[in-house]
Amino acid sequence: MNASDTSRFIKACRNQPVDCTPVWFMRQAGRSLPEYRLKRKDLSILETVKNPELSAELTLQPVKRYDVDAAVLFSDIMVPLKAIGIELDILPNVGPVIADPFTDVSHLKRIRSYEPEADAPYVQETIALVKKNCDVPLIGFAGAPFTIASYLVEGRPTRTFTKTKTLMHTDPGFWSQMMDKLSDLILSSLTAQITAGADAIQLFDSWAGYLSRYDYETYVWPFSKKIFDTLSKTFGNSVPKIHFGVGTGAILDLMASAGPDVLSVDWRMPLDKVFPLLGPEQAVQGNLDPALCLAPFEAVAKEAGKILADAKRANSGRKGSDNPTRSFPSGHIFNLGHGVLPETDPDILTRLVGFVRDHNPPAI
Ligand code: CP3
Repeated sequence: MNASDTSRFIKACRNQPVDCTPVWFMRQAGRSLPEYRLKRKDLSILETVKNPELSAELTLQPVKRYDVDAAVLFSDIMVPLKAIGIELDILPNVGPVIADPFTDVSHLKRIRSYEPEADAPYVQETIALVKKNCDVPLIGFAGAPFTIASYLVEGRPTRTFTKTKTLMHTDPGFWSQMMDKLSDLILSSLTAQITAGADAIQLFDSWAGYLSRYDYETYVWPFSKKIFDTLSKTFGNSVPKIHFGVGTGAILDLMASAGPDVLSVDWRMPLDKVFPLLGPEQAVQGNLDPALCLAPFEAVAKEAGKILADAKRANSGRKGSDNPTRSFPSGHIFNLGHGVLPETDPDILTRLVGFVRDHNPPAI
């Protein structure tokens, strides 16, 4: 048995009894940390990722500062695309920008097969370095096919997804070929991360909530499902898989049925409304509004308390809830509903970790 099997994060992912609710934060590494700004200096994010020592250090910074229950790899969802030679940049305060967006089916040949060992050895090296120096589980990740495709088609961040939606409805052949190729690339990336030592993975479908239920089910779900199914076939249930999106209230049951172990939800859905949509083994991650972390701590604590209470109430009556050793809700990982905002005061997050632990004191 691996040490990570006994961690409360992995146990909660598996809906097993835990001593207290585990907590980590999406985008816990990054601009909100002064020690991050000091180390990153003028390097771009894509340059930083190519430096395993630096990336490992940035991965570990929030673990040391916040005492969170999991580390998340310092990388980006665009790294595999960059590594196969697609011209792109990640601009500060903007996000990913593609030099030559995909407008024609002939552009698909630019998505060549991704060989992580040859194309991006630095990612696996970072993972190996983190694993040597970290006693909490490490979460690897990838962008989901839809979220990645939307950047390739739109060329830059969007709020309307007009080009992407037009493409899926007018040229479904182009769309499904692109999604198929991206699914293979994502699978190669996640497989390499797990093989290098990632203890869990998260599939970020950040923008799936912009789709209608029909579009999600028809044009997106089959590809994300293939990714979860293939990982389950390859790794069994040894590596928990988390499925994430924002504004996904209308498609949560579909996201759950794609086959993750954990469904990550944002603040729009109270957790007690999420649990009934899940299979008996599935867990929930979330879901404090990151904007609230800019409010005085009393407001943060009040909301965090509500989330913990919602999870506990929703969990009682689920499978295993009659287990007397299960004094805290398993099947819940405390997190934000989306990433930490750069202007967040890190002390608020330190106090929030303390609050989650005090609410559910570890049984030591
Ligand atoms: O602790 C962590 O989570 C850090 C690792 C991480 C990064 N990106 C580093 C990063 C993770 C998990 C991501 C995922 C990611 N990247 C997603 C999915 C998560 C989400 O927020 O929905 C998406 C959509 C991207 C694409 C991307 N990269 C965006 C939209 C941006 C923001 C641009 C900006 O400056 O506001 C990035 C840049 C990025 N990725 C930064 C970091 C630390 C900020 C760059 C910097 O520090 O200069």
